[in-house]
Amino acid sequence: MSETVTPVIGLIGGSGLYDLPGLQQREWKRIESPWGEPSDEILHGTLSGVPVRFLPRHGRGHPTPPSRLNYRANIDAMKRAGCTEIISLSAVGSLKEELPPGHFVIVDQFIDRTFAREKSFFETGCVGHVSVAHPVCPRLGDALEASARKLGLPVTRGGTYMVMEGPQFSTKAESLLYRSWGCSVIGMTNMPEAKLAREAELCYATVAMVTDFDCWHPDHDAVTVDQVVKVLFGNADLARGLVADVVPGLGAPRGHCPAGCDRALDHALITAPEK
Ligand code: ADE
Repeated sequence: MSETVTPVIGLIGGSGLYDLPGLQQREWKRIESPWGEPSDEILHGTLSGVPVRFLPRHGRGHPTPPSRLNYRANIDAMKRAGCTEIISLSAVGSLKEELPPGHFVIVDQFIDRTFAREKSFFETGCVGHVSVAHPVCPRLGDALEASARKLGLPVTRGGTYMVMEGPQFSTKAESLLYRSWGCSVIGMTNMPEAKLAREAELCYATVAMVTDFDCWHPDHDAVTVDQVVKVLFGNADLARGLVADVVPGLGAPRGHCPAGCDRALDHALITAPEK
């Protein structure tokens, strides 16, 4: 059955983003979720007439560390706020020489090495197994890549984001291990976010913004938070520009996601709860 979807663009990212230029009809709204408390209220607004919802991933003022985020409540609240797609903007370390600080990577894969987070909406009652073989929506990736190239941003399309638990950064042995696995970037936040977005049948893509070379790099012995924050704030304008450019094109009414992100549960193995 063909159906017209009117997109609502969800953004999950850092504090620099809620000053989005051109965001109109701004209103912070508290969204209740049966999964607990999301990181913050969700900023509702329109950008070039397109409905946009922004969730500060760590809360305003950055009070919540990656392991303590309620990823389920965050994704559920975005869904309840009407989002049809989610663009995740995230600071990462680089695991490749050719991805220096300041670079943007539109990743297409993840390795999930987190271990202290609730990862599924299907944990109590009915059991469900969705495919996350291709965790990123190619349609969103295409749009982000086109905007980044148009704006002349230093961007790479594709790559694997290693998601670690943290909060400590990696040891050098770990960093070298992840490099040997062919990973491009490393961060602490995109899992289980991406998996839950798929369970919630939301299109999802990540713009990974490189802030440092992690600790494998011979010229960068250790990652410091100062370094990460400095590059991140330096990049905030570019990230805002990217969002402002990509949203109008994504906002046009469309059919179902060609990759099937919005029908992920049609093919999931789901077992009804036992009576
Ligand atoms: N976020 C930013 N830089 C990082 C790094 N090197 N490791 C993990 N998370 C990060």
